Amino acid sequence: MRTLLVVLPVLLAGTAVHAQAPAASGPADLMPVPAEVVWQKGQVPLDAKMTVATRGPADPRVTAAWERALGRLRALGVGTAKAAPLAPPSSMKDERKATLVLRWQNAGLPVQALGEDESYTLTVTPRQAVLEAGTPLGILWGLETFLQLARVEGGAVHVPAVVIKDRPRFPWRGLMIDVARHWQPIEVIKRTLDGMSSVKMNVFHWHLTEDQGFRVESKRYPKLHERGSDGKYFTQEQVKDVVAYARDRGIRVMPEFDMPGHTTSWLVGHPELASAPGPFQIARTWGIFDDALDPTREEVYTLLDGFLGEMAALFPDAYMHIGGDEVNGRSWNQNPRIQEFMYQHRLRDDHDLQASFNKRLYEIVTRHGKRVVGWDEVLHPDLPRDIVVESWRGPEALAQAARLGYDGMLANGYYLDLNLSTASHYLSDPLPPGSDLPEEARRHILGGDACMWSEMVTPETIDSRLWPRAAAVAERLWSPATVRDVDDMHRRLETESQRLEAFGLNHRSGYVPMLQKLVGDAAVEPLGTLADLVEPVKHYARGQVREYRSDTPLDRLVDAARPESEAARRFRRQVDFYLKNGPDAAQATDLRSSLARWRDNHAALEPILDRSPRAAEARVHSRDLTAVSRRGLEALDHLASGHSAPAAWGEEARNDLAVAQKPSASELELAVIPAVRKLVLAAAQLDQLAPMGPPAWNALIETQLNPPRRRE
Ligand code: ACM
Repeated sequence: MRTLLVVLPVLLAGTAVHAQAPAASGPADLMPVPAEVVWQKGQVPLDAKMTVATRGPADPRVTAAWERALGRLRALGVGTAKAAPLAPPSSMKDERKATLVLRWQNAGLPVQALGEDESYTLTVTPRQAVLEAGTPLGILWGLETFLQLARVEGGAVHVPAVVIKDRPRFPWRGLMIDVARHWQPIEVIKRTLDGMSSVKMNVFHWHLTEDQGFRVESKRYPKLHERGSDGKYFTQEQVKDVVAYARDRGIRVMPEFDMPGHTTSWLVGHPELASAPGPFQIARTWGIFDDALDPTREEVYTLLDGFLGEMAALFPDAYMHIGGDEVNGRSWNQNPRIQEFMYQHRLRDDHDLQASFNKRLYEIVTRHGKRVVGWDEVLHPDLPRDIVVESWRGPEALAQAARLGYDGMLANGYYLDLNLSTASHYLSDPLPPGSDLPEEARRHILGGDACMWSEMVTPETIDSRLWPRAAAVAERLWSPATVRDVDDMHRRLETESQRLEAFGLNHRSGYVPMLQKLVGDAAVEPLGTLADLVEPVKHYARGQVREYRSDTPLDRLVDAARPESEAARRFRRQVDFYLKNGPDAAQATDLRSSLARWRDNHAALEPILDRSPRAAEARVHSRDLTAVSRRGLEALDHLASGHSAPAAWGEEARNDLAVAQKPSASELELAVIPAVRKLVLAAAQLDQLAPMGPPAWNALIETQLNPPRRRE
């Protein structure tokens, strides 16, 4: 591949690479794919003599970004001994000789704003690289692209010649972390911000309060965090530190104070705010609770005014999220005083009552200079149009809000805690292809927000739940809508994933120590082979088999396993290729070698499991892996024979797969089953398939596995 990469820039010189088929034809695995890329001839070397010139109004973000860039260049092996520190803007005479020129026109806004110009142009010739932008933000993003372009070849580092004109498709490219259900300390937040900025995400949505924890210090109402957090909260100094850290990386920080539901932790110290008599305790389990603020009490608004005023000063961002989701109304319906209030004010139902609460909240938040953001449930005809809707219900709900004139962003489709495939997140679009949303409504679609709810994640596992899948969401929100090639995304994501790990995220490596703890001092590799092929159950299936509390250790095989098995995904692609192109000896050899390795893994793992009670859950999957792999190998034998496998074999094989597929107490799925099932189906029907020719096989088997469903 390496030689090809060197040759390509020459072959492609001067050829516009359109967004549809982007980096696949270029020499770099850029993520997100820029809006316009035109590869040129040659490359600029980055070596010890590298110099940098800047021209633009002084901005500490550029300085900080360059310092980080230097660190990354050094890590690539660029000898930066003589590298000039950032030249002051006056040193213009050096600009023509500089290896890299950073040029920006305007000073950034004092507080990074939604819709601020983030575009940049990066022109790399064999002589120098010039990065130009309207604002420091464009320089930050352009530097990320520049660093992604840098490649090491033959011990030297260079950046290929190219002209990149880049700008985001959406101005809101968020990532939410729920730090309440499971506490996530500042180290987690900072490394997440590092990851975000490398893929040009620009909003950190900090879900700070929940039934299970009130995670921010309030100096005005200290009982909120003192009684509501078990001591696990962010001090105001830490908040300022995070805000500054994020700002340096081009990221806004929007806090969320979820109310009037999801507020149990508030009520521990302030039971007088509740709709039901206390006392209250921090919630230790998950779900939708009855507890809610009492919208009829003036002292609720007095406290909210004081608290949100304090938070409005602490968080400089122009937006404040008030939550608003999942109020079940039970404590309102059981309170005669609240019922009387509703009657007096002609409020027909809970939704009306919540809207009356939101109207008061809207006045408070607006008076403190912020724009209100809320989950879908805040939508109500009585509420002003400048509320921003975050849609966890879906693109249709979002489009509906946009038609009504509300700005909004998509969260649905980006729930990373559901353990779904990267591709499913990648193809979720705030403005899906074919959307008939009129132009004036499209303007209201601000972007999207990847969400990490933390019922089932700890600081030890959160990286593997966030990354690299969040990078695919980042690309959806930054790159042109036409960039939708899933295979190309996966290819580039592999590179991006390695980069992210180099920043200190542990989404690839973090499972090894977890697995090691499961097997004690035994060899970890056999369990690693299995862990690479299992995935946690999807959606909210976890927690339905056993009961979880916030203090339940999350240190089992299911926690170590990654949401999407890379090995199984690759195997599935190979099987698809094989079935599309007809039994091919070379392909079959590859498939066989994987299957044989998996089949034999149990022999190595079993004696370890015999001595490792904590890893006992692996046993059933390890046995299943052997059985499933054996069936895959047999299917390949039958396919090579040119004739259908005997009917009895087909039945037995399908039965084995069905058994392996059954839900297990381990809350894991063996991710190779679907691909092996395809081989088994093909082997069982080869006589019928053969006359059709291979390209039809895969399609036919796909149809058998997923019969078209009637629209509901
Ligand atoms: C939500 O998922 N309840 C916002």
